[in-house]
Amino acid sequence: MDAAAPILIFDSGVGGLTVLDAVRLALPDAPVIYAADNAGLPYGNKTEAQIAARVSGLLGRMTERFRPRLVCIACNTASTIALGMVREVLEVPIVGTVPAIKPAAALTASGVIGLLGTEATIRQGYVDGLEAEFAADKTLLRHAAPELVAAAEARLRGEPVNPAVFARAAQGLRAQPAGERIDTVVLACTHFPLLLPELTAAFGSGVRFVDGAQGIARRIAFLTQGQSFARSAPDFALFTRDGPEIAALAPALATRGLMRSVTL
Ligand code: DGL
Repeated sequence: MDAAAPILIFDSGVGGLTVLDAVRLALPDAPVIYAADNAGLPYGNKTEAQIAARVSGLLGRMTERFRPRLVCIACNTASTIALGMVREVLEVPIVGTVPAIKPAAALTASGVIGLLGTEATIRQGYVDGLEAEFAADKTLLRHAAPELVAAAEARLRGEPVNPAVFARAAQGLRAQPAGERIDTVVLACTHFPLLLPELTAAFGSGVRFVDGAQGIARRIAFLTQGQSFARSAPDFALFTRDGPEIAALAPALATRGLMRSVTL
């Protein structure tokens, strides 16, 4: 294994940076390429076929070009739809991101769990499977909050965000039967932990949030155990389309050690 071989972290946009943050803590020396499919953003309002085709096509091109040691699909939408298909076609180890229903079920005292995700994620059979396996004796309420994806993107571009989006996300869960008893919320979209202070304020004290980032970082550390890491160049961000958002995101990328941006 080439010590400079990167870990490729893939999302539709900036959400996967929440996974990158956890990977940095676990593996500070690991070379990383952060890949954002900004040409396809958002994934949440696309069909399963569109998402599966984009994700497997792009990851095929990216792995051929950059030869990563491991690919992390840092996107719940892409993972719940395309993880199996991508694993079929790529030789490289793939770590996916799936809604953290298992830890939420272990944490809840009231037995009522909220789940915030994209429209595409919350309708997936994959999520039904996690619910049946880990939360069959709990109540799991789901709500699609695409506005939060746009809010997280705007936040990282340094733009203001309308505070009403956080109240609407909380209301979408609270207004459902038993919603007032939610004490644990699964952030089932990697964009959402970027908005944790606002979501905490919107749901009020007494609600805990769980996401998969730390578990994914642990899994990546486990799968790369014993491998050596040495950067041959600074880490960079890879985009699927050139656009003004790339320059606007440069400060948020630089604070995460992504020193330049390139397009595929
Ligand atoms: N960050 C992605 C997720 O975890 C999806 C955002 C989107 O493209 O709609 O689901």
